[in-house]
Parts: sequence; structure tokens; C-alpha cells
Amino acid sequence: MKKRLLTGLQPSGALHIGNYFGALKPFVDLYNDYDSHLMVVDLHALTTLRDPQALRENIYSVVRDYIAVGVDPEKVILFKQSDVPLHTELAWIFECLVTVPFLMQAHAYKDKVAKGLEANAGLFNYPMLMAADILLYDAEVIPVGADQKQHVEYAREAATKFNLAYGETFGTPQELIFEGVGIIPGTDGQKMSKSYKNTIPLFGTKDEIAKAVMSIVTDSGLTRDETVNVSRATGNTVVRSVPFAKNLYSIHTLFKMQDEQDKLFDFYMSHENMYKPLKETLIEDIEACVAPMRERRASVIDSDVQAILKKGAEQAQERAARKMEEIHKRIGVSLT
Ligand code: ADP
Ligand code: TRP
Repeated sequence: MKKRLLTGLQPSGALHIGNYFGALKPFVDLYNDYDSHLMVVDLHALTTLRDPQALRENIYSVVRDYIAVGVDPEKVILFKQSDVPLHTELAWIFECLVTVPFLMQAHAYKDKVAKGLEANAGLFNYPMLMAADILLYDAEVIPVGADQKQHVEYAREAATKFNLAYGETFGTPQELIFEGVGIIPGTDGQKMSKSYKNTIPLFGTKDEIAKAVMSIVTDSGLTRDETVNVSRATGNTVVRSVPFAKNLYSIHTLFKMQDEQDKLFDFYMSHENMYKPLKETLIEDIEACVAPMRERRASVIDSDVQAILKKGAEQAQERAARKMEEIHKRIGVSLT
């Protein structure tokens, strides 16, 4: 039997290359080897989005993105979270098992509070809805970006609390974080995120991508050591610090083989205005990677999205209902 894999993306804005390398690409590379579930977590998006038209458009958009990056809807249960209301029911059950101080430790919640943003109760309970997403399907492997590691730990904790209270019902889901990807920096050097307006859009036009790349900050004061020859006669060398745009380098690494990339940077580092040609090369490298996906994306029409989600909802609902029957028996709300 194949292991169960599950992940989801919020339809909260246009996807960026951080989402692609942190979540989508790992999923596409893996999902054929598993019994896979892929969600559009629209209820999670409500914690930050209050524009119905935008939400609707984003839902279409995320499904298109999934198809564009290579997900075959025949090989995965692709569904929208709100189509399976059992997720919110299970979230409630978990909320009755965990404590307020425990939820207060969640990074996502703490970060929003620290930034002075409104922390609604949905945001506070966010990890338990995510735990429900995972545990309702007995998912074992959860491919996510590094920033979601703690949320998967919260799902494990919810499972443990439930098992202790009611008997062994849930397994132990494990996050799958790809080595080498980690957290991808945005154009300003902090984590690339829809909420920080520092993204390089995945499916933007070439102009939009170019504009974002050109805005990558390169004057962050970072340096790297370089060995230079000081005397041809003696072969003596010294090590000196040269300016180095670490975030530009990190982003470019995603699109180029390491040795090619190092050669490119070494070559331009000794030029004046070195960042312009480097950025132009990056734009071309992004374009080469994205253009075929952009074409595939354009071929997915609204009715395709509706049909995919309808079928996915039926499949997910069936699995979720079976699990919920067991849960109802365990907690005592079912009378038989
Ligand atoms: P955002 O921060 O842009 O709102 P989400 O929180 O919706 O992104 O994340 C969607 C998925 O993409 C998650 O699995 C997350 O870990 C991954 N992800 C988001 N930003 C990055 C990043 N900068 N680097 C790596 N992975 C990321
Ligand atoms: N919290 C995740 C994010 O912001 C999205 C998400 C919701 C998710 N439910 C999930 C990811 C279940 C994996 C599994 O990226």
C-alpha cells in the first residue's frame, strides 16, 4: 500500500517562486509515489482575505497553477477544503483538546501579533484546522516549506492529545522539507511572502518578473571572501572582502546548476555595475523555466477547474466521512 501524502496552498494571492520551490515542485516530484491529496485551503485564506471576488479568482488561479506545474488531476485527489465541511468539525474537536497557551506559542500567530496586525480568532485556531486537514485523511507525509514545520508539529500534538483521551485513532504525520531549499528570500532579503510584497511572481508576465528581479536589493552590505593574486612573481595572494548580494545569489541558485552559477558570479563580480547583467541573466533563466508552464496554465479553462474540484470533493468527502464515523464513535457523539 502506498503511503498517504497531503499538502495544501492558501488561495490568498498570486503564487511566487518561494511557493514553487518550497511547496509545489517538491510535491510534483513526489506525488506519483504516494496516495496523494492536494488541497486549496480556502477556509484558511479567510483568516487574511475578506474580498469574495478576489477569493473566488484566487481559487481558480491556484487550481490552474497546480495543473501548470505538472500535477495530473487523475493521479491525485485535488479538492477545495470548504467542500468537505468535516474539516471544520474535526478542528473544533481538536480545539476542545488543546490549551490556549499552547496555541499562543504558534509562530504564525506570534509573528502577526508582533507586527501589530489584527489577530482574529481564526488565525489563532489556524493550526487546529490544519491538523484536521491532515488527520482526517490519515496523511503520513506532508510536503511543506520550512516555515510550516511547526504547524505539522501541532498536528502531531493534536493527534497525541486525541489518542490519549480517546484511544489510538490517529497516526504521526511527518513534514517533508527539501534539503537545500529552506526559506527562499524575497526581493528585500527577508522571507519571500505574499504578505510582505517582496515576491517574484511565478506566473507573471515577463515584464512583471523583470520588474521584480530588477528590484532585488543588492546593497545589503553583505560581503564574501575572495582570494586575489598580489604578485605575479611570487604568486602571493591575499584574501579580501568583496560586496556580494547573497539574496540575488540564493534566488539564482534555484534556476542554475551550482558550478555554472558560481562561474557567472565570479565573472561579473570583478565588473562595475555587475548586478545589472546578473539580474538580466536571472530574468532569462526564470523565463526559460516558467514559459512552458505559463502556456499550460493558459489552456486550463474555468469549466475544467470546476470539474476537477467537483470530482476531488466527492473523493475527499468519501474518505473523510469514513474517518469521521470512527471519530464520532470514539468521542461519544454517535449513539451506536
Ligand atoms: P506566503 O508566505 O507567500 O503567504 P504561504 O504561507 O501560502 O506563502 O505558503 C505556501 C507554501 O509555500 C508553504 O508550504 C510554504 O512553506 C511555502 N513557502 C512560502 N514562502 C516560502 C519561501 N519564501 N521559501 C520556501 N517556501 C515557502
Ligand atoms: N498552512 C499552510 C500554509 O500556509 C497551508 C495548509 C493548510 C496546509 N492546511 C494544510 C499545508 C495541510 C499542508 C497540509 O502554507
